[in-house]
Amino acid sequence: MDMDWANPEAIAAGLALYRSTECTSCHGQKAEGVVGPSLAGLIREQTIDMVRNGGVLMPAFSIDKLSEEDLTAIITYLRSLSTQSSGELGQ
Ligand code: HEC
Repeated sequence: MDMDWANPEAIAAGLALYRSTECTSCHGQKAEGVVGPSLAGLIREQTIDMVRNGGVLMPAFSIDKLSEEDLTAIITYLRSLSTQSSGELGQ
């Protein structure tokens, strides 16, 4: 993986997108889980599958709604949560 998962700017951008795409309404302000599960520390493949295809209650986000770049940024944010206490950046 050639991404810099610890890049603070990428993480901040991902947090902003995570909120503006309204993932928060089901997954929480800090990805701690509400209706949907906690997303802290997700692996990339798992995230893309569920976000693109949807689940039972999880809506599908097609490429029209969420670009590949934006999804990558959100994943970067979520992954950053695994190495810290969940949601530390989400103040
Ligand atoms: C309407 C509520 C809702 C919204 C909005 C929503 N989710 Fe979900 N999400 C869920 C639910 C509920 C699940 C659990 C699977 C299911 O029941 O569909 C889930 C599952 C997931 C999973 C899989 C988690 C796992 O451990 O398997 C990921 C990743 C995910 N959501 C990411 C996102 C992202 C990123 C966004 C914003 C782009 C988002 N979700 C927006 C409700 C939502």
